[in-house]
Amino acid sequence: MTKIRLAVLISGRGSNLQALIDACAKPGFPAEIAVVISNQPDALGLERAATAGIPAMIVDNAYFKGDKAGFEQSLTDTINQYNVDLICLAGFMRILSADFLARFKDKVINIHPSLLPAHKGLDTHASVLKAGDTAHGCSVHVVTPGMDEGDIILSRTVTVKKGDDEAALAARVLVEEHIAYPEAVRQIALKEITIRGGHVVRQGKTAKISQPETKMSHHDTHHAAPVADAEAIARSHQMWNAFTKGSTYAGGGVVLVLILLAVLVA
Ligand code: GRF
Repeated sequence: MTKIRLAVLISGRGSNLQALIDACAKPGFPAEIAVVISNQPDALGLERAATAGIPAMIVDNAYFKGDKAGFEQSLTDTINQYNVDLICLAGFMRILSADFLARFKDKVINIHPSLLPAHKGLDTHASVLKAGDTAHGCSVHVVTPGMDEGDIILSRTVTVKKGDDEAALAARVLVEEHIAYPEAVRQIALKEITIRGGHVVRQGKTAKISQPETKMSHHDTHHAAPVADAEAIARSHQMWNAFTKGSTYAGGGVVLVLILLAVLVA
């Protein structure tokens, strides 16, 4: 079996990297980690890579003193040494430019600790608690220039329980992250999904993942978010367009009648 080759980009603890290392060590898993790259020289994840015998590289952004293009060029050169098929951001705390992403078109994915599109950015657990959400989770998504905005590959949900604080939520979501990331890589490696033109394509159709479930049972649910049928989405868009167009005409008609009435009364 040919395995796809991953570059895993990290900045710190590297527990998601560890989940990928463990998955790749299983017989029959269709991916291998070619290189781990950290922008932080003291990232714990670098030790995890070294322990697993994986090349561990540092591209320290601080060295480039704000020269983002220089940093990204160095990152690019490092990745290019390893003949990589997919770049997995795993707690990588740098925003990648459109130029960088264009070099690795449709090859960069990320894991985010929320049910995207809700709670983009940092401090997602606090944000979920503040919003009073009953469902939370993680999403693996395509990386695009907009932060946490690319198509969702899969998500996993946990219930927010009474008395949960940020730490409790973070711990429960992390368990799901460690299942979600290897599963997303597996699906990509086996071409169950492909990323094309920045979008997730499933079984030959460009599919948007529907909103994650918000109705929860008493138990946490552990599943990939359901995939909406692309044709159904297109149909609903058509219906919506027709409806809004119709409403515009209807609205126009009402205004016309009112003007005529006003003219008659005058
Ligand atoms: C994870 O919560 C991930 O979702 C987010 O950053 C964190 C990284 O954790 N992008 P780790 O370094 O993988 O332990």
